[in-house]
Amino acid sequence: MLIRAAHPDDAPAVVALRALVYPYLVRGVESTRQMITEPPPGEEWTAFVAEVDGRVAGWVSAYRNGGTSEADFGEVSLLHVHPEQRGRGVGGALLAEALGHLRPLGIRRVRTGALTDSLPFARRHGFTPSRELRYSALDLRATPPLPDTRDGVRLLPLAGLDPRRMHAVHVAAAADEPGDAPADAIGYASWRYEVWDNLGLDREASTAVEVDGELVAFSLVKRDGDRMWSDMTATVPAYRGRRLARLAKLAALHHARARGVTVAYTSNDESNAPMLAINERLGYRPVAAQWSCLAELN
Ligand SMILES: CC(C)(COP(=O)(O)OP(=O)(O)OC[C@H]1O[C@@H](n2cnc3c(N)ncnc32)[C@H](O)[C@@H]1OP(=O)(O)O)[C@@H](O)C(=O)NCCC(=O)NCCS
Repeated sequence: MLIRAAHPDDAPAVVALRALVYPYLVRGVESTRQMITEPPPGEEWTAFVAEVDGRVAGWVSAYRNGGTSEADFGEVSLLHVHPEQRGRGVGGALLAEALGHLRPLGIRRVRTGALTDSLPFARRHGFTPSRELRYSALDLRATPPLPDTRDGVRLLPLAGLDPRRMHAVHVAAAADEPGDAPADAIGYASWRYEVWDNLGLDREASTAVEVDGELVAFSLVKRDGDRMWSDMTATVPAYRGRRLARLAKLAALHHARARGVTVAYTSNDESNAPMLAINERLGYRPVAAQWSCLAELN
């Protein structure tokens, strides 16, 4: 077994392995290659793969969370090992590399995600489960009809919008999403990287809602072929409770379906009652559970 830094040419094998372990996640080969070639700015992002007999059998990425106001908060993301290679120390070796990358950066608290079956592994390595996340899927053939919009309400594809305006509404609307680290400090460069310039973003299907000329809600669509991921749906606080998030998401799903998407996935914190209510009414069904787990680094 060899643990080494991920290389852009690993992207197809990395995506194939991810599809095996997390079939409900959506990030295609080109978007994965882009992430390895040009990592997110300012996060000291890195990724490692485990090679067994010359084949990619495991993955982990590690970085500073640059989008939260909590100082020195790190992420160990998507640690996973091929099911046939488990129980041989591959996961532990990948995790040790990831934490070894974060320690010299001065990271004090680390978050990672763990499937329910992997919680004993996470606990053994010092992580404590903190919050449960629900992953859900929707077959787009069953998308409910789009309601008529009220006077003054306009649905707009992201493609025609000024990215500075979109960034501003994203920051204002998404800062209080429930989670272990508030997403309350998303800078413009990071946002450009994660959202606007992301190869997976479908700017025609991603939809914003304007009310009387003001951008107040949106729903993002990231794609890999005929599968999509709703990366964020949000409404600025002053406009909540008017079914605008539901409208944005439903319109985005309709546009995505018209553009060839057949299935949509999303994840929500189990405490995010309004977003879970929206998704349930749209017809999403749970497909997996994961835990957000925290550890102190010393
Ligand atoms: C979640 C969020 C997008 C909802 O926006 P919104 O515009 O108020 O949503 P809508 O009005 O379209 O729908 C809210 C639904 O939640 C329901 N709801 C609200 N509070 C609820 C609660 N505590 N328990 C159960 N349902 C609740 C409402 O009744 C409504 O359902 P209905 O249309 O069937 O009546 C908004 O709170 C937000 O931007 N939060 C921060 C970002 C975020 O967490 N995004 C989701 C990331 S996964």
